[in-house]
Amino acid sequence: MNATLERWGSRRAFILAVTGAAVGLGNIWRFPYITGENGGAAFLLLYIAFVLLLGLPVMMAEILIGRAGRRSPMLSLGHLATAAGASAHWRWLGLFGAFTVFCILSFYSVVSGWSIEFLVTSINGGFVGATPAEVGAGFEAFLGDPARMTFNHTLFLAMTMLVVAAGVAKGLERLNNLLMPLLYVLLLLLAGYAATTEGFAPALAWLFRPDLAAITPLVVMHAMGHAFFTLAVGACALMAYGAYMPEQQSLPRAAGAVAVLDVAVALLAGIAIFSVVFAQGMDPGEGPGLMFVTLPIAFAELPWGALWLSVFFLLLLLATWTSSINLAEPMVATLQGAGMRRGPAAAAVGVAVWLVGLLSVLSFSTLAEWRPLFGMNVFDLVTTIPTEIFLPVGGLLIAIFAAWVMRREEARAALGVGEAGFRLWQGVVRWVSIPLAFVVLIAGLL
Ligand code: TRP
Repeated sequence: MNATLERWGSRRAFILAVTGAAVGLGNIWRFPYITGENGGAAFLLLYIAFVLLLGLPVMMAEILIGRAGRRSPMLSLGHLATAAGASAHWRWLGLFGAFTVFCILSFYSVVSGWSIEFLVTSINGGFVGATPAEVGAGFEAFLGDPARMTFNHTLFLAMTMLVVAAGVAKGLERLNNLLMPLLYVLLLLLAGYAATTEGFAPALAWLFRPDLAAITPLVVMHAMGHAFFTLAVGACALMAYGAYMPEQQSLPRAAGAVAVLDVAVALLAGIAIFSVVFAQGMDPGEGPGLMFVTLPIAFAELPWGALWLSVFFLLLLLATWTSSINLAEPMVATLQGAGMRRGPAAAAVGVAVWLVGLLSVLSFSTLAEWRPLFGMNVFDLVTTIPTEIFLPVGGLLIAIFAAWVMRREEARAALGVGEAGFRLWQGVVRWVSIPLAFVVLIAGLL
C-alpha cells in the first residue's frame, strides 16, 4: 500500500472532514442565490429530493471506492477495475474529477476572496450605519477592482495550498474540530434574529410554499447540480478522503450525518438571507452578490453588529477554507499518484488554479463582455458548467462503478454495513440514482 497515505485520527475526525468539505460557499452563498433565481420553494423541494435520492447514495459510492482502493482516485479506480475484471480505463474517471475540481476551485478561491474583503471591511467598521444602497454600491466598486480581487484570491489560494502541502489529515483536524460548530451556532442566532423581523414570514413562504408551475427541466437540472456541489460529490474529492477513512466505521451513518448538517446549514442561511431580502424589498433573483449585500444589512441592525459580522465572515472563511482544501485534494493526490512529492504537487496545482482564477477575477471588469462559450463570460461558465454537467456526469460514472463494476464483496466491506444494508444501498443506486441522473442530464441538455 501507498506508504504516504495517512489515516484520519478517529471516526469523528472523518465525519468532520467530510462535513468541512460539504459545508462551504455552496450552502451559504450559492444555495440562497440559486434558490432565488429558480423560484424559491419549488427549487428547494427538488434540491432536497436530489440530496436524498442521488447525492447521498452517490456520496456513499464515492467514499467506498476510495476506502476500498486506499490510493489516489485514479489508482484506486484502476486497481479496483482490474480486480473486478473490468477495463483499467476506469482510472480516467479520476482525471476527469481532477479537471472538474480544477474548474470549481478557480472561482471558489475568487469568491472566498470576497469573504476576506468583507471580513476586513467589517473589522474596520466599514458597514456601520451603511444603507442597503451603500452596501450594494461598495460591493460593485469592489468587483470592478481587479487588483484588490486578485490580492484576496492569491491570499486565499496560498492559505489553501499550504494546508494541502502539509497533508490534509493533520492540517484539517484542528481546523474542523472547534470552529465549524461555532459557525453553526452563529447561523442559528442569525436565523433566530431573522424570526423577529418582518421579512421572516414572506421568507418562509418563499422557501416552503412551492409553486409547482415553476419547475422546468432546467430548474430540475440546476437542483441536481447543486445537490452534487453542496455535498462535494461527483469529482472524486470525497473518494480521496475515503482513502483515509478508518476501518471500523459505518459509511452510511457518517454520510447521513453530513447530509443532514449540510442541508440544515443551507436552510438556516436561506432563512436569514431571505428575511433581509423581503424586509428590504430586494430582488431574490439578484444573483451571486445576494449574500454579500444582504448580510451586512442584517447585521447592521443588531447590537454589536460590526463585531458579529466580522465573526461571521471569519467563520465563513474557515468553512470555505476546509472546502477548498477538499477541492484541491484530488488534483494533488493525482499528481502524487504519478510520483510527485506532495509539496511540489501542491505548488503546481496552486499556480495553475491561480492563473485560471484570474479569468474569473476579470469577469467583473476587463473581461466582463468576453463570452467564449454559450454566451457566458468565464465566471458564469465556471460557476455553471462544471457544477451542472461535470459533477452529475462524474457522479453517474462513480455510481455505475460502485454498484455495477466493483467486486461485490469489496464494495460491501467498504460500505461497512451488513448484507441487508448493502442490498438496500445497491438497489437504490442501481434503480433510482443512476436512472434519475441519466434522465435529468438528458432532459436538461436537450
Ligand atoms: N461542497 C462545497 C460547498 O458547498 C464545495 C466543494 C468542496 C465541492 N469539495 C467539493 C464541490 C468537491 C464539488 C466537488 O461549498
